[in-house]
Amino acid sequence: MKKLLIVANWKSNKTSLEAKEWIKRVTSYDLRFTNKEIIVCPSFLHLPILKSYILNHKFPIKLGAQDISAFSEGAYTGEVNGRQLKEFVDYVLIGHSERRQNLNETDDILNKKVEMALEHDLKIIYCIQNEETLIPKGVNIIAYEPIFAIGTGRPETPENAKKIKEIVSKYNPEHFLYGGSVSSDNIADFMKSSMDGVLAGGASLDPLEFFKILENA
Ligand code: PGA
Repeated sequence: MKKLLIVANWKSNKTSLEAKEWIKRVTSYDLRFTNKEIIVCPSFLHLPILKSYILNHKFPIKLGAQDISAFSEGAYTGEVNGRQLKEFVDYVLIGHSERRQNLNETDDILNKKVEMALEHDLKIIYCIQNEETLIPKGVNIIAYEPIFAIGTGRPETPENAKKIKEIVSKYNPEHFLYGGSVSSDNIADFMKSSMDGVLAGGASLDPLEFFKILENA
């Protein structure tokens, strides 16, 4: 059976100590969900610490990166490339609207990022903002993240999310996720609307709230 993907996108939040404390708190709850995959996307900086902490304790948590370089290894100051990421993560977020807006990521750049992720066998969680967003070939997971819903406390309706899922079904994604003001109060409605999981930002920062999201999914 296909697992639901419950993704915590921490964005630019948490020190490494806070990140480890979050994992400690979340794993103090009963995480023996057989049908849910927990994916945490922290800052690059925290990946090595979290990776060894998770491995040592055999916690049922996968890691994802919030970005990937559009370039391969080499003279690209400040970039983190796919080969480096593959050491630590299984998943990578590409196409988030915050990066499109704040860092001017264009479809061209995003295509290159997708190519890099595919080259290094990373599972891509590709964010689309509406049904017109271009979706590159090879994307396995599509996350519908309408801009008006991100960080506003005003989520999309589950019915509209389902409509977008139907429209993009021609791309045959393995999973279709919803993201934008997801919380423990509204997640059940999105699940009823046949979402294959969610991408939670603000609500994922608190361990108890994230656990409730997992429980209610
Ligand atoms: P939000 O962010 O849950 O804080 O709205 C979601 C996202 O941007 O992935």
